[in-house]
Amino acid sequence: MKYSVFVTRDIPNEGLDMLRADDRLDVRVYPKDEKIPREILLEEVKHCDILLSILTEKIDAEVFAAAGDRLKMIANYAVGFDNIDLEEAKKRGIVVTNAPHEYISESVAEHTVALMLALAHRIVETDAFTRAGKYTSWGPKLLLGTDIGRKTVGIIGTGHIGSLVVEHLYRGFGMRVLYNDVKPNPELEASVKATFVTKEALLQEADFISLHVPLLPSTRHLISRAEFALMKPTAFIVNTSRGPVVDEKALLEALASKKIAGAGLDVYECEPLIDCDPTDTQELRSFQNVILTPHTASASLQTRQAMSRVAAENILAFTQGKTPPNALT
Ligand code: DGY
Repeated sequence: MKYSVFVTRDIPNEGLDMLRADDRLDVRVYPKDEKIPREILLEEVKHCDILLSILTEKIDAEVFAAAGDRLKMIANYAVGFDNIDLEEAKKRGIVVTNAPHEYISESVAEHTVALMLALAHRIVETDAFTRAGKYTSWGPKLLLGTDIGRKTVGIIGTGHIGSLVVEHLYRGFGMRVLYNDVKPNPELEASVKATFVTKEALLQEADFISLHVPLLPSTRHLISRAEFALMKPTAFIVNTSRGPVVDEKALLEALASKKIAGAGLDVYECEPLIDCDPTDTQELRSFQNVILTPHTASASLQTRQAMSRVAAENILAFTQGKTPPNALT
Protein backbone atom coordinates (compact mmCIF):
# COMPACT_ATOMS: atom_id res chain seq x y z
CA MET A 1 0.00 0.00 0.00
CA LYS A 2 1.20 3.52 -0.81
CA TYR A 3 0.60 6.14 1.89
CA SER A 4 -0.13 9.72 0.98
CA VAL A 5 1.52 12.07 3.47
CA PHE A 6 0.61 15.75 3.46
CA VAL A 7 2.87 18.20 5.30
CA THR A 8 1.10 21.45 6.13
CA ARG A 9 4.25 23.60 6.07
CA ASP A 10 7.83 23.20 4.96
CA ILE A 11 9.95 22.02 7.89
CA PRO A 12 13.71 21.50 8.24
CA ASN A 13 14.73 18.82 5.79
CA GLU A 14 16.00 15.82 7.77
CA GLY A 15 12.64 14.24 8.56
CA LEU A 16 11.29 15.02 5.10
CA ASP A 17 14.35 13.33 3.56
CA MET A 18 13.66 10.23 5.68
CA LEU A 19 10.07 10.13 4.47
CA ARG A 20 10.98 10.76 0.83
CA ALA A 21 13.54 7.93 0.95
CA ASP A 22 10.75 5.44 1.62
CA ASP A 23 9.09 4.52 -1.67
CA ARG A 24 5.92 3.39 0.08
CA LEU A 25 5.24 7.04 0.84
CA ASP A 26 4.06 9.79 -1.42
CA VAL A 27 5.07 13.01 0.36
CA ARG A 28 3.60 16.39 -0.52
CA VAL A 29 4.44 19.64 1.27
CA TYR A 30 2.32 22.81 1.20
CA PRO A 31 4.59 24.85 -1.07
CA LYS A 32 4.41 28.32 0.48
CA ASP A 33 6.24 29.38 3.65
CA GLU A 34 3.10 30.65 5.34
CA LYS A 35 0.36 29.22 7.50
CA ILE A 36 -1.72 27.05 5.22
CA PRO A 37 -5.08 28.71 4.48
CA ARG A 38 -7.88 26.88 6.22
CA GLU A 39 -9.77 26.09 3.00
CA ILE A 40 -6.68 24.46 1.49
CA LEU A 41 -6.13 22.38 4.63
CA LEU A 42 -9.79 21.26 4.54
CA GLU A 43 -9.36 20.20 0.91
CA GLU A 44 -5.95 18.54 1.30
CA VAL A 45 -6.98 16.51 4.30
CA LYS A 46 -9.47 14.62 2.11
CA HIS A 47 -6.66 13.20 0.03
CA CYS A 48 -4.13 12.01 2.59
CA ASP A 49 -3.65 9.03 4.88
CA ILE A 50 -1.20 10.86 7.11
CA LEU A 51 -1.08 14.53 8.03
CA LEU A 52 2.12 16.09 9.33
CA SER A 53 0.78 19.19 11.07
CA ILE A 54 2.27 22.30 12.63
CA LEU A 55 1.03 23.74 15.92
CA THR A 56 -0.69 26.65 14.17
CA GLU A 57 -3.19 24.26 12.54
CA LYS A 58 -6.30 23.75 14.58
CA ILE A 59 -7.18 20.11 13.96
CA ASP A 60 -10.76 20.13 15.17
CA ALA A 61 -14.12 18.51 14.35
CA GLU A 62 -14.32 20.46 11.08
CA VAL A 63 -10.99 19.05 9.88
CA PHE A 64 -11.91 15.52 10.95
CA ALA A 65 -15.27 15.82 9.18
CA ALA A 66 -13.57 17.07 6.01
CA ALA A 67 -11.04 14.22 6.20
CA GLY A 68 -13.69 11.51 6.16
CA ASP A 69 -12.46 7.93 6.60
CA ARG A 70 -9.16 8.18 4.81
CA LEU A 71 -7.06 9.98 7.40
CA LYS A 72 -5.35 7.45 9.70
CA MET A 73 -2.59 9.39 11.41
CA ILE A 74 -1.58 12.89 12.47
CA ALA A 75 2.05 13.56 13.35
CA ASN A 76 2.23 16.92 15.09
CA TYR A 77 5.47 18.84 14.63
CA ALA A 78 5.55 20.04 18.27
CA VAL A 79 5.79 18.75 21.80
CA GLY A 80 2.49 20.48 22.62
CA PHE A 81 -0.67 19.07 21.11
CA ASP A 82 -3.34 21.47 22.34
CA ASN A 83 -4.05 22.31 18.67
CA ILE A 84 -5.51 18.83 18.14
CA ASP A 85 -8.84 17.52 19.41
CA LEU A 86 -7.49 14.24 20.79
CA GLU A 87 -10.90 12.96 21.89
CA GLU A 88 -12.27 13.29 18.37
CA ALA A 89 -9.15 11.60 16.99
CA LYS A 90 -9.58 8.73 19.45
CA LYS A 91 -13.24 8.31 18.50
CA ARG A 92 -12.24 8.02 14.87
CA GLY A 93 -9.36 5.64 15.58
CA ILE A 94 -6.81 8.14 14.27
CA VAL A 95 -3.31 7.82 15.70
CA VAL A 96 -1.87 11.13 16.91
CA THR A 97 1.79 11.67 17.79
CA ASN A 98 3.79 14.61 19.10
CA ALA A 99 7.51 15.33 18.69
CA PRO A 100 9.34 15.50 22.01
CA HIS A 101 13.13 15.47 21.97
CA GLU A 102 15.78 16.33 24.56
CA TYR A 103 17.04 19.10 22.26
CA ILE A 104 13.67 20.88 22.53
CA SER A 105 13.89 20.85 26.31
CA GLU A 106 17.41 22.21 26.07
CA SER A 107 16.47 25.01 23.67
CA VAL A 108 13.38 26.06 25.60
CA ALA A 109 15.23 25.95 28.93
CA GLU A 110 18.01 28.15 27.49
CA HIS A 111 15.49 30.60 26.07
CA THR A 112 13.74 30.77 29.45
CA VAL A 113 17.00 31.59 31.23
CA ALA A 114 17.83 34.11 28.48
CA LEU A 115 14.51 35.89 29.08
CA MET A 116 15.16 36.00 32.83
CA LEU A 117 18.64 37.43 32.38
CA ALA A 118 17.44 39.91 29.77
CA LEU A 119 14.67 41.11 32.11
CA ALA A 120 16.97 41.38 35.11
CA HIS A 121 19.68 43.23 33.20
CA ARG A 122 17.26 45.22 31.01
CA ILE A 123 19.11 44.00 27.93
CA VAL A 124 16.49 44.95 25.34
CA GLU A 125 15.89 48.38 26.84
CA THR A 126 19.58 49.15 27.20
CA ASP A 127 20.28 48.02 23.65
CA ALA A 128 17.57 50.39 22.37
CA PHE A 129 18.98 53.18 24.56
CA THR A 130 22.48 52.72 23.17
CA ARG A 131 21.33 52.44 19.54
CA ALA A 132 19.34 55.64 19.97
CA GLY A 133 22.61 57.46 20.78
CA LYS A 134 21.55 58.15 24.36
CA TYR A 135 24.71 56.72 25.91
CA THR A 136 26.58 59.94 26.44
CA SER A 137 28.12 59.32 29.86
CA TRP A 138 28.63 56.39 32.22
CA GLY A 139 26.28 56.91 35.19
CA PRO A 140 26.22 55.26 38.62
CA LYS A 141 22.43 55.14 38.47
CA LEU A 142 22.01 54.69 34.75
CA LEU A 143 19.44 52.01 33.83
CA LEU A 144 19.80 50.04 37.05
CA GLY A 145 18.54 46.49 36.91
CA THR A 146 18.93 43.53 39.19
CA ASP A 147 20.82 40.22 39.33
CA ILE A 148 19.37 36.75 39.34
CA GLY A 149 22.13 35.22 41.48
CA ARG A 150 21.06 34.40 45.04
CA LYS A 151 17.46 35.32 44.24
CA THR A 152 14.52 32.95 44.55
CA VAL A 153 13.06 31.32 41.48
CA GLY A 154 9.63 29.71 41.50
CA ILE A 155 9.10 27.06 38.84
CA ILE A 156 5.58 25.87 38.09
CA GLY A 157 5.74 22.53 36.29
CA THR A 158 8.85 20.36 36.60
CA GLY A 159 8.74 18.09 33.57
CA HIS A 160 11.80 17.94 31.31
CA ILE A 161 11.91 21.65 30.53
CA GLY A 162 11.06 22.94 34.01
CA SER A 163 13.63 20.61 35.60
CA LEU A 164 16.32 21.72 33.18
CA VAL A 165 15.58 25.38 33.93
CA VAL A 166 15.97 24.56 37.63
CA GLU A 167 19.32 22.85 36.97
CA HIS A 168 20.65 25.86 35.06
CA LEU A 169 19.50 28.40 37.62
CA TYR A 170 20.59 26.41 40.66
CA ARG A 171 23.99 25.33 39.35
CA GLY A 172 24.76 28.37 37.22
CA PHE A 173 23.48 31.18 39.41
CA GLY A 174 23.05 29.72 42.89
CA MET A 175 19.37 30.56 42.93
CA ARG A 176 17.13 29.32 45.71
CA VAL A 177 14.54 27.09 44.06
CA LEU A 178 10.88 26.72 44.97
CA TYR A 179 8.66 24.61 42.78
CA ASN A 180 5.06 23.59 42.42
CA ASP A 181 3.63 20.73 40.43
CA VAL A 182 0.74 18.29 40.65
CA LYS A 183 2.95 16.30 43.01
CA PRO A 184 6.46 16.53 44.49
CA ASN A 185 9.32 15.63 42.16
CA PRO A 186 11.77 13.36 44.08
CA GLU A 187 14.09 13.06 41.08
CA LEU A 188 14.52 16.83 40.93
CA GLU A 189 15.02 17.04 44.69
CA ALA A 190 17.70 14.34 44.52
CA SER A 191 19.59 16.38 41.96
CA VAL A 192 19.35 19.96 43.30
CA LYS A 193 18.15 21.72 46.41
CA ALA A 194 14.55 22.50 45.44
CA THR A 195 11.59 22.87 47.77
CA PHE A 196 8.07 21.79 46.89
CA VAL A 197 5.60 24.50 48.00
CA THR A 198 2.02 25.49 47.26
CA LYS A 199 1.41 27.68 44.26
CA GLU A 200 0.43 30.51 46.61
CA ALA A 201 3.63 30.29 48.66
CA LEU A 202 5.68 30.20 45.48
CA LEU A 203 4.00 33.30 44.08
CA GLN A 204 4.49 35.19 47.33
CA GLU A 205 8.18 34.41 47.68
CA ALA A 206 9.65 34.14 44.20
CA ASP A 207 11.64 36.92 42.55
CA PHE A 208 11.35 35.13 39.20
CA ILE A 209 8.43 32.90 38.28
CA SER A 210 8.62 30.58 35.31
CA LEU A 211 5.81 28.48 33.84
CA HIS A 212 6.39 25.02 32.35
CA VAL A 213 2.99 23.33 32.28
CA PRO A 214 1.07 21.98 29.29
CA LEU A 215 -2.12 23.77 28.28
CA LEU A 216 -5.00 21.78 29.78
CA PRO A 217 -8.43 22.82 31.05
CA SER A 218 -6.84 22.82 34.54
CA THR A 219 -3.95 25.10 33.52
CA ARG A 220 -5.85 27.64 31.42
CA HIS A 221 -5.46 30.98 33.25
CA LEU A 222 -3.43 29.28 35.97
CA ILE A 223 -2.01 32.76 36.52
CA SER A 224 -4.79 35.31 36.76
CA ARG A 225 -5.76 38.29 38.95
CA ALA A 226 -5.63 36.40 42.27
CA GLU A 227 -2.18 35.07 41.43
CA PHE A 228 -0.76 38.43 40.33
CA ALA A 229 -2.10 39.91 43.57
CA LEU A 230 0.15 37.54 45.53
CA MET A 231 3.37 38.40 43.68
CA LYS A 232 6.01 40.81 44.89
CA PRO A 233 6.17 44.18 43.09
CA THR A 234 9.77 43.25 42.24
CA ALA A 235 8.84 39.88 40.71
CA PHE A 236 9.28 38.97 37.05
CA ILE A 237 7.21 36.32 35.29
CA VAL A 238 8.42 34.28 32.32
CA ASN A 239 6.19 32.16 30.11
CA THR A 240 7.62 29.83 27.47
CA SER A 241 4.85 27.21 27.82
CA ARG A 242 1.52 28.15 26.25
CA GLY A 243 -0.05 31.63 26.12
CA PRO A 244 -3.43 30.87 27.69
CA VAL A 245 -1.74 29.59 30.87
CA VAL A 246 -1.54 33.31 31.74
CA ASP A 247 -4.68 35.45 31.74
CA GLU A 248 -3.36 38.27 29.57
CA LYS A 249 -5.93 40.82 30.71
CA ALA A 250 -4.84 40.20 34.30
CA LEU A 251 -1.19 40.44 33.22
CA LEU A 252 -1.83 43.81 31.54
CA GLU A 253 -3.52 45.08 34.71
CA ALA A 254 -0.64 43.82 36.86
CA LEU A 255 1.89 45.57 34.62
CA ALA A 256 -0.09 48.80 34.42
CA SER A 257 -0.55 48.97 38.21
CA LYS A 258 3.09 47.90 38.83
CA LYS A 259 1.98 44.85 40.81
CA ILE A 260 4.92 43.08 39.18
CA ALA A 261 8.25 44.27 37.78
CA GLY A 262 8.02 42.79 34.31
CA ALA A 263 7.41 39.81 32.07
CA GLY A 264 9.25 37.73 29.49
CA LEU A 265 6.92 36.04 27.05
CA ASP A 266 7.44 33.66 24.16
CA VAL A 267 3.77 32.66 23.89
CA TYR A 268 0.52 34.61 23.83
CA GLU A 269 -3.18 34.14 24.33
CA CYS A 270 -3.62 35.26 20.78
CA GLU A 271 -0.79 34.27 18.49
CA PRO A 272 -0.82 35.67 14.95
CA LEU A 273 -3.10 33.82 12.57
CA ILE A 274 -4.93 31.98 15.34
CA ASP A 275 -8.59 32.88 15.16
CA CYS A 276 -8.81 35.22 18.17
CA ASP A 277 -8.89 38.87 19.25
CA PRO A 278 -5.28 40.13 19.36
CA THR A 279 -6.01 43.36 21.32
CA ASP A 280 -4.56 42.28 24.68
CA THR A 281 -1.58 40.55 23.13
CA GLN A 282 -0.79 43.68 21.09
CA GLU A 283 -1.14 45.92 24.14
CA LEU A 284 1.80 44.12 25.75
CA ARG A 285 4.05 45.90 23.25
CA SER A 286 3.58 49.21 25.04
CA PHE A 287 5.49 48.07 28.16
CA GLN A 288 9.25 48.54 28.23
CA ASN A 289 9.61 46.06 31.06
CA VAL A 290 8.15 43.28 28.91
CA ILE A 291 10.26 41.22 26.53
CA LEU A 292 8.39 39.57 23.69
CA THR A 293 9.71 36.77 21.47
CA PRO A 294 7.67 35.15 18.68
CA HIS A 295 7.27 31.57 19.97
CA THR A 296 10.90 30.91 19.12
CA ALA A 297 12.04 29.22 22.32
CA SER A 298 12.71 26.00 20.40
CA ALA A 299 13.98 27.75 17.29
CA SER A 300 17.50 26.45 16.98
CA LEU A 301 18.34 24.60 13.79
CA GLN A 302 19.44 21.44 15.62
CA THR A 303 16.21 21.33 17.60
CA ARG A 304 13.92 21.96 14.65
CA GLN A 305 15.82 19.26 12.71
CA ALA A 306 15.40 16.88 15.64
CA MET A 307 11.66 17.59 15.70
CA SER A 308 11.57 16.86 11.97
CA ARG A 309 13.29 13.48 12.50
CA VAL A 310 10.98 12.59 15.40
CA ALA A 311 7.88 13.34 13.33
CA ALA A 312 9.29 11.16 10.52
CA GLU A 313 10.18 8.32 12.91
CA ASN A 314 6.61 8.30 14.17
CA ILE A 315 5.23 8.19 10.63
CA LEU A 316 7.61 5.44 9.53
CA ALA A 317 6.76 3.33 12.60
CA PHE A 318 3.06 3.75 11.89
CA THR A 319 3.43 2.72 8.26
CA GLN A 320 5.37 -0.37 9.38
CA GLY A 321 2.43 -1.41 11.53
CA LYS A 322 4.21 -0.54 14.80
CA THR A 323 3.02 1.70 17.61
CA PRO A 324 4.74 5.05 16.99
CA PRO A 325 7.17 5.98 19.78
CA ASN A 326 5.26 9.15 20.63
CA ALA A 327 1.67 7.95 20.21
CA LEU A 328 -0.85 10.04 22.16
CA THR A 329 -3.96 8.13 21.06
C1 DGY B 1 6.28 22.87 21.06
O1 DGY B 1 7.00 22.00 20.51
O2 DGY B 1 5.22 22.57 21.60
C2 DGY B 1 6.78 24.27 21.04
O3 DGY B 1 5.85 25.17 21.50
C3 DGY B 1 7.31 24.66 19.69
O4 DGY B 1 8.48 23.97 19.54
